[in-house]
Amino acid sequence: MCGIVGYVGGRPCLDLLVAGLEKLEYRGYDSAGISVIDNGQIENVRAVGNLENLRAAVAEQADEGGGVAVAAPAATTGVAHTRWATHGRVTEENAHPHGDCTDRIHIVLNGIVENHAELRRELAEQGHHFSSETDAEIVSHLIERNYDGDLTDAVRRSFGELRGHYAFVAMHADEPGRLVGARKECPLVAGVGEGETFLASAIPAFLAETREAVAIENDEIVTIGAGGISITDSKGNPVERAAEEISWDEAAAEKGGYETFMLKEIHEQADAVAETIADRLPSDDGVDLSEVELDDDYLRGIQRIVIVACGTSYHAGLVGRYAIEEWARVPIEMDIASEYRYRNPVISEHDLVIGITQSGETADTLAAMRLARENGAKVLAITNVMGSQATRDSDAVLYTRAGPEVSVAATKTFVAQVASMYLLGLRLAELRGTLPPERIAALVAELKSIPSKIETTLAVSEAPAREIAAAQAEHDFFLYLGRHIGLPVCLEGALKLKEISYIPTDAYAAGEMKHGPIALLDESTPVICIATDSPVLEKVLSNVEEVRARGAETIAIVTEGEEKAAQVADATIEVARTDWILQPIVAILPLQLLAYEIARARDLNVDQPRNLAKTVTVE
Ligand code: AGP
Repeated sequence: MCGIVGYVGGRPCLDLLVAGLEKLEYRGYDSAGISVIDNGQIENVRAVGNLENLRAAVAEQADEGGGVAVAAPAATTGVAHTRWATHGRVTEENAHPHGDCTDRIHIVLNGIVENHAELRRELAEQGHHFSSETDAEIVSHLIERNYDGDLTDAVRRSFGELRGHYAFVAMHADEPGRLVGARKECPLVAGVGEGETFLASAIPAFLAETREAVAIENDEIVTIGAGGISITDSKGNPVERAAEEISWDEAAAEKGGYETFMLKEIHEQADAVAETIADRLPSDDGVDLSEVELDDDYLRGIQRIVIVACGTSYHAGLVGRYAIEEWARVPIEMDIASEYRYRNPVISEHDLVIGITQSGETADTLAAMRLARENGAKVLAITNVMGSQATRDSDAVLYTRAGPEVSVAATKTFVAQVASMYLLGLRLAELRGTLPPERIAALVAELKSIPSKIETTLAVSEAPAREIAAAQAEHDFFLYLGRHIGLPVCLEGALKLKEISYIPTDAYAAGEMKHGPIALLDESTPVICIATDSPVLEKVLSNVEEVRARGAETIAIVTEGEEKAAQVADATIEVARTDWILQPIVAILPLQLLAYEIARARDLNVDQPRNLAKTVTVE
């Protein structure tokens, strides 16, 4: 989730752009850059690391008598960017803004260009030369190819050739006083001031300068100048839209208008999955994991997979186990990393050990990964942070693309991890021939439908979750029940409630109830049951009736249209229907909301719960 800021107006733009980037720092980043137009030229500076490094690079340029700082008094048009790497390592060359072959067109982009590989090949065959490993740089060369003296027109035509999930802003040295942006899913907003206009990926970037904002909608092209903005649809038809007065304070703006980062991140889950699967499902019938540096023969030959992780990442691994065993028929062993590393486990060179860690810095998971490598196994890291330690303690990396997660309680990184396990399961099934092509194609289609199913499920779950939370918030113990692929969901739901509400919970395999935990039940015990579609749904429903017979209050998460499931519990929350193996990625949503609403009902700080850190780097 990169940060974009653009400015056109009467004031020197460098400080305004740097101030805008500072306001976007909360989004997290690993490098940054600025380009300004000065006297028909583009001056550019980029730096790896934080804005301090960028400022130092600007000062260094000035010492050498050039660069954006020297140009800045005159430059009133510029773009700036904070990068959260998804394609290409964390280097200065891969930092934005990116230029075309003539260096007269510069762009900044947030999101992912799905068809970047084929466009890069095409453009290279036509003589374009690239200076970065990024998908984003494609856009500057496409605009170069389409440019015929009108930047807006060139951007619109280039927009038509792109596929993906992105927003970008472009400038041309021949057109100072003009910036052109385009939006496909990723956010883009204009800030309208007196004789000046901003374009940004989020309102905080310009809130200190103007409170007049104009939202740019999907498939729209926006042109800004000192005099204001004009918007067209992707066909060039003009679109009228009035500015809105933004009343948020800066803290609220950082949360995108949500009251907490956790709620904001819950609502970013559709994007997190969409970006994680984006260019890994380039067609309708296959999975492209060519970025994972494990060759196909090796993947065909692995005899066992061991998944090591902690907390929420462990629960994502558990979901992955069901999918990979079911689709690819590879035996999977699950291990809590802090146990695995001291258990003197049996490891062989035919093992693939997968370390799942969103931060990429969790000490126990890293130690487990190192142990596996030292004993001859290959290690695949599934992480959300490029350049993290996990990427160095592994032989290959599969990145989730959830963007930085601020709230301690993991939500969007969980669904992104589950999505990446599904990608891996399907790729292994393809390579090992364990699923018929039509089944793989059906699952690819289902996986592509998940982002919109997350949107609909969140929309229909919010009200019932709030209602149930209000009714149950005072209870001092909750029991979660799940079975088969529903078990990891209930474990994760219980962890969320523990983490942010401090209420003791127990999460149990429903079939185990009668072997002990059923003794815990009485009419004051709320029991959350994962009763979504699965091969054991009937069994789960009879477990729910078993619980109800002891007078406990039952709340069931059910798949839409599952009449029978909706009848057995005292209260239900429906989630979108999808293939039973993919059901966990939507079934977790009402549990996140329930935990959230209960914690809010108890007036607790959900973003920074007591005793917890976002990244556990201690052993
Ligand atoms: C989850 O909400 C917690 N923050 C915690 O359990 C977390 O999942 C665990 O510490 C693992 O973190 P990692 O994914 O960064 O390795």
